[in-house]
Amino acid sequence: MLLHLGGIQKRFGGVTALKNGSLSVRQGEVHLLLGENGAGKSTLMKIVAGLIAPDGGTFEWRGSPVRFRAPVEAAAHGIAMVHQESLLAPHLTIAENLFLGREEVCRAGLLKRSRMRERAAALIAQHKFPLQADWRVEKLTPAGKQLVEICRAVVSGSSLMIFDEPTSSLSESETREVFRIVRELRERGMAVIYITHRLEELRAVGDRVTILRDGETVHTAPLGEITNDEIIRQMVGREMSALYHREPAKVGEELLRVERISRKPLVKEVSLTLRAGEITGLAGLVGAGRSEFCRAVFGVDHADSGQVYIAGKPVEINSPRQAVQAGLALIPEDRQHYGLATLRPVGENISLASLPLVSTFGFLNQRAERRIIDTYMARLRIRAGSPKQLAGRLSGGNQQKAVIAKWVARRARVFLFDEPTRGIDVGAKAEVFQVMDELARSGAAILMVSSEIPELLQMADRILVMRQGRISGELPGRTTPEQIMRLAALETTTSEFAS
Ligand SMILES: Nc1ncnc2c1ncn2[C@@H]1O[C@H](COP(=O)(O)OP(=O)(O)OP(=O)(O)O)[C@@H](O)[C@H]1O
Ligand SMILES: [Mg+2]
Repeated sequence: MLLHLGGIQKRFGGVTALKNGSLSVRQGEVHLLLGENGAGKSTLMKIVAGLIAPDGGTFEWRGSPVRFRAPVEAAAHGIAMVHQESLLAPHLTIAENLFLGREEVCRAGLLKRSRMRERAAALIAQHKFPLQADWRVEKLTPAGKQLVEICRAVVSGSSLMIFDEPTSSLSESETREVFRIVRELRERGMAVIYITHRLEELRAVGDRVTILRDGETVHTAPLGEITNDEIIRQMVGREMSALYHREPAKVGEELLRVERISRKPLVKEVSLTLRAGEITGLAGLVGAGRSEFCRAVFGVDHADSGQVYIAGKPVEINSPRQAVQAGLALIPEDRQHYGLATLRPVGENISLASLPLVSTFGFLNQRAERRIIDTYMARLRIRAGSPKQLAGRLSGGNQQKAVIAKWVARRARVFLFDEPTRGIDVGAKAEVFQVMDELARSGAAILMVSSEIPELLQMADRILVMRQGRISGELPGRTTPEQIMRLAALETTTSEFAS
């Protein structure tokens, strides 16, 4: 037995993150850690990795009790973690991030740049990651950052590697590479703890599974002895299906038309029309330009050319503010950076975009604001101590839900959802789908960008596919994954992972 946690407790102010976290991990096994958003998974793992101290419980490493006061102490025992939120230094290069705080320091205390860059390049090449050692991390997409985090953990050569949702922003081929790395680590006798919300990937990597619910370990089993339905039941504490069934709504008038919009280098003359009542899927590989397209339409990035029409009228959108005024909402992919004011309360984040709706003559109707906050926190099952909890202190998945709540509360007419279910647990996914469905039924037009083909097939009335910056085809909602992949697939090039 490598790691043993028993009855671990952790409170943050008024929030109980863990009341009875237990987990045993053997050498050479891949152990899945599952649970709903806010169940305490990341907190338990941060304790193991020395980022936070437990309030109580037993923590044994190779049979002896330990207590880490800092991540370096965990690292010294051979424990490394790939984090859910990027902890990289944005202004440094990939190579510098990989070796930050490591041995590559010469006697004068200066980093041996060329040597470091060489080693980083070799590592990247070994895993065939579409990255370059001298790129600055701040220029990377979420997927790119995730790959750097993974490389960083692999470099440290540990005996326990913790992956906190490593594949949530990755493409299929990169996900396969992560699985390959996990298997390789196991073959080398290392143990891996793996957190994911993508139930389809469980069987590809895991040996055993432990399920947390509300800060408590409720079940541990070998994967071969538990069905996915049972896993879901243990996670959410009730029966539920992973499938969402949507009936198409009545399609009405055109709400958004985009004509030949371009934005170098990733968006090339993309045209599309969104109609009231309709959910249009936008499929494609990571790096195909889907997020960049949304950002150009929403005015986050300036489009180089093209025209946007709202309800038939040409509009000029040069900033997100103008986009909001025109009735657009963007639920961005990189929510850590564009979606939330992490140092403000979660409630305020949710009501922020809707304040004009609940103010008269500049006076805020606090009761109405409170109603918006309560409604959406409940609807999206946002788990927080109270609406006053800082948004940055929510669990990863709950932050995602707060961004969605913020924009849904705004009652826009056109919604651009960029990867709406990323990092969200099964129960909340169904809620998000329900909300999208209701928006469509109430006459909104929705663009759903998703890399989860099964989810597009459940939700979309029709599916557009993007490849290398262009729309490569349109398919009916009841198409097959193969048809989508046929239009989406083509080698992606390195330039598509940095802007
Ligand atoms: N620094 C903190 N301050 C206050 N509350 C916190 C802090 N860190 C975590 N929490 C709370 O502890 C609970 C558990 O959070 P944790 O991040 O461990 O969940 P999780 O299982 O990883 O969820 P997810 O699947 O969404 O990532 C949540 O309610 C969260 O709001
Ligand atoms: Mg987490």
